[in-house]
Amino acid sequence: MSTSAAESPRHEPKAPTSSSFSIRSYWENQEARFDNHLQYMNPQLPKVLKTLGFDKTYVRGEGPYLWDQEGRRYLDFLSGYGVFNFGRYHPVIVRTMREMLELQDANLVQFDCPHLLGELAKALSERSPNRGRVYFTSTGAETVETAIKFAKAHTRRDRILYLDHAFHGLTLGALSVNGNREFRDGFGCLLEPTLGIPPNDLKALETELKKGDVAAFIFEPIQGKGVYLPDPGYLKAAEDLCHRYGALTIADEVQTGMGRTGKFLAVEHEGASPDIILISKSLSGGLIPTGAVIARDEIFKSVFNRMDRCVVHSSSFGKNSLSAAMGLASLWILDNENILERATHVGKKIVDGLNALKMKYEMIGEVRGRGCMIAVEFQAPKSLQLKMGWSLLHTLSKDLFPQLIVVPLMRDHGILSQTSGKGQDIVKFLPPLICSDEDIDYFLNAFDQVCAGAHKFPGGVWDLGKTLAKAAMSDQASK
Ligand SMILES: Cc1ncc(COP(=O)(O)O)c(C=O)c1O
Repeated sequence: MSTSAAESPRHEPKAPTSSSFSIRSYWENQEARFDNHLQYMNPQLPKVLKTLGFDKTYVRGEGPYLWDQEGRRYLDFLSGYGVFNFGRYHPVIVRTMREMLELQDANLVQFDCPHLLGELAKALSERSPNRGRVYFTSTGAETVETAIKFAKAHTRRDRILYLDHAFHGLTLGALSVNGNREFRDGFGCLLEPTLGIPPNDLKALETELKKGDVAAFIFEPIQGKGVYLPDPGYLKAAEDLCHRYGALTIADEVQTGMGRTGKFLAVEHEGASPDIILISKSLSGGLIPTGAVIARDEIFKSVFNRMDRCVVHSSSFGKNSLSAAMGLASLWILDNENILERATHVGKKIVDGLNALKMKYEMIGEVRGRGCMIAVEFQAPKSLQLKMGWSLLHTLSKDLFPQLIVVPLMRDHGILSQTSGKGQDIVKFLPPLICSDEDIDYFLNAFDQVCAGAHKFPGGVWDLGKTLAKAAMSDQASK
């Protein structure tokens, strides 16, 4: 005789006590932090961090700041590669997470239409120029994979065009539309056929579209590697061309979306309405992995065209109500805390400040940015002494100079930033959109001091260059 669920014996979970599992005991004992990574994970990461002096034991984050074990405060102008647009542990994000855990929502039933996902889909569709339907994912790269599949299914064509220097993630499909050789090398055959074309070149795009086999043209509205903005009018004209030849456009807003550039989506600056729009990173306010593919109705109807193809594309964590709750919380923050205005203000104040420093330092070349996505490109100096340092360092390695800015910013001022693009003299900043004017002044003052150091040769940061070059060479020699 079968037993009903109500009658069957239940597994009683143990209530936590002082002697049972507590994550706090792991958190409080961090001695093995780097050794565990050396022994059980990618061993290169702790080595690189140590070489750069980035091997900190961070113990807390709040808003735009991090703190290490010694209590030193850091200003985070990396924002976890752009997942923390609203800073860390925004109170609304924290409260939403707590509420969801307390509600014990019936999450991930799978054979279900979760309410919060529908609400988030409606909200995202209403703010997207294509008014599309929404497919939820767990990462940026998965949104790209999904878009490629959807474009192929809808157009019944195979070829995907992407831009030189593009970055769309590192899974196989996403890697196949990556415009940076260093990421592709060593991983064998990728998805065929894809082709990289030069940015802002409508002729090159049309030449390929004319062949009649292009499923989609994928682009970042602002290229993350190096922070390159499109020429005015290019994206709209590219969209018109794609449509003339029956190809779709895919806007990868994984980094530029969710207000980073001062608008909800960066394509809004361009008046474009892509067929497929990809969001991820800050969609969940940073704590839970999530992503969204917003695609026109016809595209969805091509992929999910019959009842027996209802799950022809799906993933176990895609329909995650916890992520959707965080997405709804993030949109609330965007709408209710003047985030777009703040992002525009923060970005402008930083870019204006950097441009003012350009007058003072000959190696500061172009300052580029839109909202809180900002880069400084350095250029070869004209003065004799500095020229010597510049060419010496560039002879040793084409990748080292930006580290002479990033490392002292961190070491001497506790500011996190990153180099951007292989073999390019570019430093990139992704400040949280919520940072204060005081934070910006602190950053600009620190950047001023670091640039002053870089404009004195020999000595100072140039010695650091030699040390880094030596470390890189001895690593290569040991292979
Ligand atoms: C534009 C863009 N697309 C896709 C990705 C990949 O996202 P994820 O790292 O979540 O896979 C990134 C990551 O930086 C990105 O910047």
